[in-house]
Amino acid sequence: MFEKVEDYPVDPIMIGADYFAQDPRTDKLNLTVGIYQDADGKTPVLKAVKLAEQRLIDTQTSKSYLALTGDPDYCRVLGAEIVGADNLGPFVAAQTAGGAVALRVMAELVAQMPDPPTVWLQTPTYGNYIPILTAAGVRFKSLPYYDPLKREILFDQLLDGLKQARPGDLFLMQGVCHNPTGADMSPAQFAALLDEMDTRGIIPWIDLAYLGFAQSWAADCDMARKIAARFPECIICITLSKSFGIYRDRAGALFVKTKPSDRARMQRAVSAIVRAGPSHAPDHGPSVVRTILGDTDLKTLWLSELNQMRQRVADVRRTIAETEIRDFGRDTLGYLAKQSGMFSILPLTADQEMALTREHGIHVVKGGRVNVARLADGDISHLIRAIHDVSSVG
Ligand SMILES: Cc1ncc(COP(=O)(O)O)c(C=O)c1O
Repeated sequence: MFEKVEDYPVDPIMIGADYFAQDPRTDKLNLTVGIYQDADGKTPVLKAVKLAEQRLIDTQTSKSYLALTGDPDYCRVLGAEIVGADNLGPFVAAQTAGGAVALRVMAELVAQMPDPPTVWLQTPTYGNYIPILTAAGVRFKSLPYYDPLKREILFDQLLDGLKQARPGDLFLMQGVCHNPTGADMSPAQFAALLDEMDTRGIIPWIDLAYLGFAQSWAADCDMARKIAARFPECIICITLSKSFGIYRDRAGALFVKTKPSDRARMQRAVSAIVRAGPSHAPDHGPSVVRTILGDTDLKTLWLSELNQMRQRVADVRRTIAETEIRDFGRDTLGYLAKQSGMFSILPLTADQEMALTREHGIHVVKGGRVNVARLADGDISHLIRAIHDVSSVG
């Protein structure tokens, strides 16, 4: 019977790792990875995480199931950080196995509604949105967000495109450190976007994956706070994979703000969708997060480690921009220093991107996404030279 199974597309990030492994060159460089790496190319366990884990081992008394929507304490402590304790009341919350499951649960809920709304997406955007929405059966449409060759946000086109949305449609946007572009809206653009959504009755759906990697943990929660304070209905999906470096431990959450008359029904809907799909969330990662956020000393340690990760990424970005001007007398990559987070898109055509891998052994995600956190000091000149080389050819 399995001969009838169709050929599924392979995720471009996963296939990037395969291509890299097959490349026999010793001086190859893998910029496809989607995780933070330090200057030695390692993704270490944070000290605050190790301490919290030890505490959990010493004190955990049961491994029975949690509620379908997880541990209410985790949701409360995390929600207070993200939207503020005073704003939490109108939210239905669920602990999820990372952000991907929060997105999938919400997508299922949207698809199962009578007369389902359309979800509007930024282009380009996180590569797993379309597979998640498609698997759930959600109707979606894409709007322009960023032009990699011009290195700029297409804000007017985005706002213009949103005029096609109907009241009750959803706009799925990212918080800080936009993946894959690294290009975040300015505060003025974000304010204008919220005005537009408010006027048109479009419901914000914000996905937060890189809190703490742009300015600071507290400052990076600001977009979600503004949305939560202003809109009577909104959706917030969160992954803590990056901010706590606990990728495989799967900590995330879904927060949905509802009108009072819808809240109990929404709570039941979220529980039913969790039950039929991902079922109970894993406890370990979320318990680590809850332990750290609930302890002043651990939280201070974690924030300093998060700050170091943020600083490293910002330093690499600045070094690329400065090295290009100082050693190459050109300024084509200066935009990288103005963007934030681990990812940016190189300003290359598809042919130039292929030449970067073929001629120089530099592997990037299809579409030009690179992880700047993967670059050690010694890689930077090599990357700049290679980009110049393929740009002049293409
Ligand atoms: C924008 C965005 N949202 C959600 C996720 C999902 O993260 P996870 O499945 O690790 O929780 C990612 C992961 O890379 C992401 O970049």
